[in-house]
Amino acid sequence: MDVRNQIIPIASDHGGYEMKTYLIDNLKSIGIEILDYGTNSTESVDYTDMIHPLAKAVNDGKYPIGIILCGSGNGAAITANKYPKVRAALCWNIELAKLARQHNNANILTLPGRFIENETALEMVKLFLTTDFEGGRHQNRVEKISKIL
Ligand code: RB5
Repeated sequence: MDVRNQIIPIASDHGGYEMKTYLIDNLKSIGIEILDYGTNSTESVDYTDMIHPLAKAVNDGKYPIGIILCGSGNGAAITANKYPKVRAALCWNIELAKLARQHNNANILTLPGRFIENETALEMVKLFLTTDFEGGRHQNRVEKISKIL
């Protein structure tokens, strides 16, 4: 998938705010259109307040792909994955970001803002935005995710 001509929504709490700002600046500078869902400072907030609107918009088909962050990434990913059409993958390195697209058809990249380097996060985002789902044997597995017992 190459989504460089799409709008990419991004959201974080205070724990991901500085990394979010870095990503927005750098992605804009290479021509990627980014829509910021907040938060807008390092003041403490509840990650749910920013993540729910972004996840709902991806779930509704408004954007094919999104980026979310919090300090650990866990709160953001758990919240986003409440939406049935969202597959939010918490990734810590470049290989995991690539695999999340190739094997899981993840549509939201989740980053642990307090635990990885900004430069790594930027490379992960670039890869996530340009890597295709492999389909094949993974298609069936992805379809089975929503078939809870
Ligand atoms: C905020 O202190 C922190 O709890 C949050 O960013 C995140 O790590 C939650 O999962």
